[in-house]
Amino acid sequence: MKRLITAAILPIAFFCSCQSARTQNQSQASAPQPQVVVVPTDELSREPSVGPATNAGATAAAQATPAQELRGDSSDMQMSLPPPATQTASAGPRISYNSCNVNGPYIAMTFDDGPNPELTPKLLDMLKARGIKATFFVVGQNAAQYPEILKRMVAEGHEIGNHSWSHPALTKLGVDGVKKQIESTNAAIEQATGQKVTVMRPPYGATSQILNRRYYDQYGMKVILWSVDPLDWKYRNSARVSAQIIQSAHPGAIILAHDIHATTVGAMPETFDALLAKGYKFVTVSELIAMDQPAQLVKREEPKPQSAPAAPAQGAR
Ligand code: NI
Repeated sequence: MKRLITAAILPIAFFCSCQSARTQNQSQASAPQPQVVVVPTDELSREPSVGPATNAGATAAAQATPAQELRGDSSDMQMSLPPPATQTASAGPRISYNSCNVNGPYIAMTFDDGPNPELTPKLLDMLKARGIKATFFVVGQNAAQYPEILKRMVAEGHEIGNHSWSHPALTKLGVDGVKKQIESTNAAIEQATGQKVTVMRPPYGATSQILNRRYYDQYGMKVILWSVDPLDWKYRNSARVSAQIIQSAHPGAIILAHDIHATTVGAMPETFDALLAKGYKFVTVSELIAMDQPAQLVKREEPKPQSAPAAPAQGAR
C-alpha cells in the first residue's frame, strides 16, 4: 500500500518541479539558450533507471522512477553552471551546445538511455524507412550488453554518443568517478563500433564548465544538451510526446527523447512524418554542430513544407 501511495505522490512532485522547465524549454525555441543547468535534488537521490525496460507496461511505481533528464530553475536546486551556449572565437572552439545556429531547416533528433533490445531496433526500422539519421546517447552498461545494436546504428548512418556508464549525475562524482564513467562507456562503444566517440550528454544535463572542459580536453568530446524536451519520460503518451516535439521544433534544434519508453518510440512515426512534411531535414548531432555559425550570419527562416496539399483544380468540388 505504501508503494502505491508513493507511486501516486511522485508524479505530482515531478509535475510541480518540471513546470518551470517546461515553460523554459518552450521559450527556448527562439530565445537564447539558458546558461544554467540544474537538477532537482530529489531526482539525484533517486536510483537511476538505466537498464533496458523489460516490461513496457511497467507499474506505476516504475513509471514514476526514471526522470532521465531534468532541468528546473528553482534556486535551491541549482547545482552547476555549464559553459555559455555560445563562445566567441577568441575563447576557442565551442564545446557545448543546446542548439545550433544553422542556415537551413536542419534538426538533430537524439535518443538517450538505450539501447533497449526491443524498442531500439523498432526505432531503427522507423528511421531507416524514412532515411532519417539520428544520434543515440547510450548508457555504457547497455551498450556493452547489446553491441550488435550499436553496430547496426553505425551501419545505418547514425551517430553514437556517451551518456555515462550507469547514469549518475557526473557533477556529484569525484575526478576518478567521472573518469570511470566516461572511459568505460567510450571503451564499450569503440569496441562495438570501432569508432571514436566525439559527443557526450551528461545524465540529467548535470555538468559544469570545468567538466565540459575536461570532456573536451581529455577525450575530444563536445557536450550536447538540448533545446526541445517533450518530457517523454514523464508523459507516457505518444500523442502528447509527438505534439510537443512537432510544436517546439525549430531550425538548429537538438531534440531530446528516450528510446527506452514504448510510448516515445510509438510517437516517432507521426513525429518524423510531421517534421518531414514541414520541411525539416534530420542530421546527426555532429553534422548539425559542423553547420553551426555565429548567430548574426544565420537567417531565421522557417522550413518550407515539402508536401503541401495540391491545389484543387478550378471548379473542383
Ligand atoms: Ni539519460
